[in-house]
Amino acid sequence: MEGLTTTKAPFIEKAQQSGERFIHQPYELYSEENHLAWSKLYSRIQERWQKYANPKFLEGVAKLNLDSKRVPKIEEINSFLNPLTGFSAKPVSGYVPAFIFFDCLRNRDFPTTITVRDISKLDYLPEPDMFHDVAGHVPMHTDKEFADTLVRFGDCALSAALVIQELKDKELQKQRAQSVIKAMARFFWFTVEFGLIRSGNELRAYGSGLLSSYGELEHCLKSPDVQRYPIQLEWAVNQYFEIDKYQPLLFIIDSFDHLFSMVDELEKWVKNGKVNNVSPGEPYVSDADIESFLHAKP
Ligand SMILES: [Fe+2]
Repeated sequence: MEGLTTTKAPFIEKAQQSGERFIHQPYELYSEENHLAWSKLYSRIQERWQKYANPKFLEGVAKLNLDSKRVPKIEEINSFLNPLTGFSAKPVSGYVPAFIFFDCLRNRDFPTTITVRDISKLDYLPEPDMFHDVAGHVPMHTDKEFADTLVRFGDCALSAALVIQELKDKELQKQRAQSVIKAMARFFWFTVEFGLIRSGNELRAYGSGLLSSYGELEHCLKSPDVQRYPIQLEWAVNQYFEIDKYQPLLFIIDSFDHLFSMVDELEKWVKNGKVNNVSPGEPYVSDADIESFLHAKP
């Protein structure tokens, strides 16, 4: 049995080779080892979710009825999720260029990996897998305010694309796209992927990178090695990050209303040129990311 294991799934390789970005979830291909990996990941993180996840996430987990023993069926997840906020998880074969990713959010689709990490690497893998996407991200999509914020990220990307496309000079278009994509990717990273939120007198995690990592979920809130600061837009868009270690710097939002208003602000900054020259460094912006903005259509 081949299985649908991250970086080792022939079904995914074939889809990528034939240029199929959006795919279906061939459920029958999951191996018993894939199901076992899912159930181990799911069961061991439960007590940490209770301690460290923000309440909206815990409500979302309950609303989705996620299967704890077997890899969940995307269709079943969507049957619970879609009536709540209009969002759906949308299976993809891998990397999605930046504009297309944000535009999916604008249309209330969330690009979702369907492979499960190797059972021998439950603690860390650099690639996103289904546990990260489905158990880490999707529960937050049941919350209307958070879902609306993701849509605003999509609006912001579209505004950026239109501003960039108005420029006459091709090289300038590319430079602008590079900077704006970096700014958006960094803001997304420090919020949707790795954000902390105030909850009463405590801090809780709402970022999916934290919520899908058994080790980092405790580390991000308990370790004295992590610097936690109230978020500032000008800081986040200029702050580089590394994906292959526990994050040493995290930003705190006051509420999801606060986050929504910051994406509004980011869109204004995109329009008035305040993120045209953000600091260099990570994340890497590929030619495909840049092209996706230059060829975007409303
Ligand atoms: Fe993610």
